[in-house]
Amino acid sequence: MTDKYAVIGNPIAHSKSPLIHKMFAEQTGQDISYEAVLAPLDGFATTVKRLRDEGYKGCNVTVPFKFEAFQLATQLTPLAEKAQAVNTLKFDGDTILGNNTDGTGLAQDILYNLKIALNNKRVLLMGAGGAAYGVTLPLGHVGAKLTIVNRTADKARALASSHISDKFMVSGCSFDEIAGQQFDVVINATSAGLTYSEIPLPPTIFAPGALAYDMMYGRETPFMKFAHEHGAAIVSDGLGMLVEQAAESFWWWRSARPDTRLVLEALRGKK
Ligand code: ATR
Repeated sequence: MTDKYAVIGNPIAHSKSPLIHKMFAEQTGQDISYEAVLAPLDGFATTVKRLRDEGYKGCNVTVPFKFEAFQLATQLTPLAEKAQAVNTLKFDGDTILGNNTDGTGLAQDILYNLKIALNNKRVLLMGAGGAAYGVTLPLGHVGAKLTIVNRTADKARALASSHISDKFMVSGCSFDEIAGQQFDVVINATSAGLTYSEIPLPPTIFAPGALAYDMMYGRETPFMKFAHEHGAAIVSDGLGMLVEQAAESFWWWRSARPDTRLVLEALRGKK
């Protein structure tokens, strides 16, 4: 029998996840279906309940429901717990398991698709909202020396201090405080791209050979334009992160590893 999965969001019509998971299923021979489900803004929990009643095995969760999914889960992986957000649910009897694959997806895209090492690299993470929370711990796991910068600096400090440990050096600050500093990797986890607004970055922020990475995809953001104009060696959007986080979810559900490179090439229109 075909196992059913879905992605829940609002809006959801333009989600690429159904296509990505269809390609994963074909590649790995997994018998699954995967569809996009629009939940009313006040109806996330009801939608999850309906899917569980209909025998779905799990779902992905996207904007604006990741925090509600975190609250709804009855068991959390350590990554979800630290992120305070859930992008993947697995249903097992009465148990709702919550995971967060966003940060692992980001790290894998940088390490394996862009082929840029992160261990001991100076990494600047911009933003301290849900998107930044989702990726902080996995960046620590791969050895990044992380600075979190946010317009509201206290939020960056709070995010940093909730992750600091003897294995993970991470600090939070304001944009003023990064004046004169350079970074090997600069990641945009703010929502500035959505409103097409500028981020107050110093023009000398990119170290020689630096990667500028925007977690958004679909069009060039002002940050990506800024990076091209101010010496970033590589500028990437977040399409690879989307595919890699999907692969992590697929792996968690199905114990099968798809070839993400082929899927990413297909989405970029290269094949
Ligand atoms: P998300 O879940 O996408 O992270 P969020 O929780 O609303 O959304 O967080 C948005 C983030 O983008 C915040 O870090 C916000 O900064 P503030 O905390 O100071 O509000 C950041 N952000 C939004 N627009 C920005 C801009 N134009 N310049 C810099 N940071 C911006």
